[in-house]
Amino acid sequence: MVRILIACSFAMAIALAVFFGVFENHTISVQRGNRGTGHIQLYTPNSVPASVALNSIPVADPIDPPDPDLPTARQTYKNVQVLDDLSVLELPRLMAALSTWIAPKEGCNYCHNPANLASDEKYTKRVARSMLLMTRRINTQWKAHVVETGVTCWTCHRGEAVPSGSWYTRADLGENTSMIGNKDNENTPGIAYVGNSALPFDPLTRYLIDDNDIRVQGSVPLAGTNPYPMNGVQKSEMTYSMMIYISKSLGVNCTYCHFTRAFGSWPDSTPQRATAWYGVRMVRDLNKSFLLPVAGMVPSYRLGSHGDGPKVGCATCHKGTYKPLFGNSMKKDYPELWRAGGPKIDTGYVSPPNVAVKNPVVSPEKLMSGQY
Ligand code: HEC
Ligand code: HEC
Ligand code: HEC
Ligand code: HEC
Repeated sequence: MVRILIACSFAMAIALAVFFGVFENHTISVQRGNRGTGHIQLYTPNSVPASVALNSIPVADPIDPPDPDLPTARQTYKNVQVLDDLSVLELPRLMAALSTWIAPKEGCNYCHNPANLASDEKYTKRVARSMLLMTRRINTQWKAHVVETGVTCWTCHRGEAVPSGSWYTRADLGENTSMIGNKDNENTPGIAYVGNSALPFDPLTRYLIDDNDIRVQGSVPLAGTNPYPMNGVQKSEMTYSMMIYISKSLGVNCTYCHFTRAFGSWPDSTPQRATAWYGVRMVRDLNKSFLLPVAGMVPSYRLGSHGDGPKVGCATCHKGTYKPLFGNSMKKDYPELWRAGGPKIDTGYVSPPNVAVKNPVVSPEKLMSGQY
């Protein structure tokens, strides 16, 4: 009898636990704006530990104290074109980090012929040189997006030669582009970028390489006088599929950036929308200036079915997180990647206005402890 009672109370306890969602991957909504305006973010606390692991940073080797008497890499080595301002101690320290960040199994030999470190015979070394320029350019010329936090190779690569979250063009993949039967790249199931929706499945080629307007609403009432004459169903659908991609890349809801009463209105948007606006321009620059040329240096097995190489998107750095590495900067450990280098670019875009946000972002520590 006692045994039956004990068994019953166990069964009850488990049933209650399931009922109250102890084992469930429950979501929590956090209010970020005025009450009643639907300004909430949904979080799944159970996914936080995996996200914390993905966003951890490898421990850096100690930095040698600066010594002005040390020769520079340019004076010491034969073929240093980008990192020529580093000292003879800084260069090997950074090289060890590059191995951890890009090719932890292969190490130096992934990029070098060990018998001749100055040789550029491996394509990976030539690509890495472009990537060094790109990283310095992000950190010195795209502060409108990455502020002082910046990025290193780790932000994108995380120990993989080709970073996760890179993308290939898919436009017109197996599609009939004649008028009859042209589904405009829609209704293709299983495309995760656009949340498996029936929207066009490749907004990235259109918006993350070329300067196409990401817009639904016209700014004036009459279509004929609309300065954006192409705003129609097709462009609206493309915009929405792009927005789903952005939300998924950052692991946030639409209301992280927009007030849903008026998606287009800048004064009603959060400051994060302005950051995202610069992000779109930065990604276009990275793809046009670096990833398209790099595709010409990599072997054919790296290319996609359209013959293009992997490109950068929001997910390449963010990987499902509102800020890559939860906004932790690696600048104090690798200041050499924050020095200027490479050709200057013009970032003279018109800035969208700044607006105030009600509640700040909830930190992962707070989410895990359940107190907010
Ligand atoms: C991800 C690719 C990559 C990895 C891994 C890598 N390197 Fe390099 N290494 C480079 C690039 C690119 C340069 C040239 C930098 C430049 O032009 O500014 C370079 C240059 C060098 C040089 C200067 C050679 C000369 O005379 O011009 C040395 C020495 C060196 N690396 C050593 C190492 C060692 C040791 C390791 C392993 C601990 C290593 N590298 C790992 C990409 C890499
Ligand atoms: C903004 C994201 C981003 C950053 C930052 C970044 N990379 Fe890359 N990297 C990529 C992408 C995307 C590719 C794939 C390009 C291709 O294959 O055409 C790539 C490819 C490479 C490759 C070729 C790997 C292979 O096996 O084909 C090397 C080597 C490399 N990166 C080194 C570096 C180094 C070194 C740094 C830091 C100085 C760095 N990357 C920073 C996005 C990035
Ligand atoms: C991380 C910030 C961010 C998130 C999240 C986001 N958006 Fe956007 N949205 C933007 C930015 C930035 C623009 C303007 C893009 C540009 O002009 O280059 C924009 C533009 C739009 C527009 C066009 C407005 C106009 O002027 O016509 C619509 C509609 C829109 N977003 C809907 C959505 C929807 C729906 C979601 C959720 C699925 C979403 N957005 C998620 C940042 C965001
Ligand atoms: C080269 C890496 C990189 C790429 C690519 C990138 N971002 Fe970011 N983003 C960052 C970094 C780093 C930060 C953190 C800046 C900080 O500390 O405030 C950030 C911050 C943001 C924020 C602010 C989040 C907040 O809570 O304040 C938004 C929004 C954002 N990114 C949107 C985007 C969108 C949209 C794209 C694609 C169009 C994109 N990012 C592509 C590196 C990147």
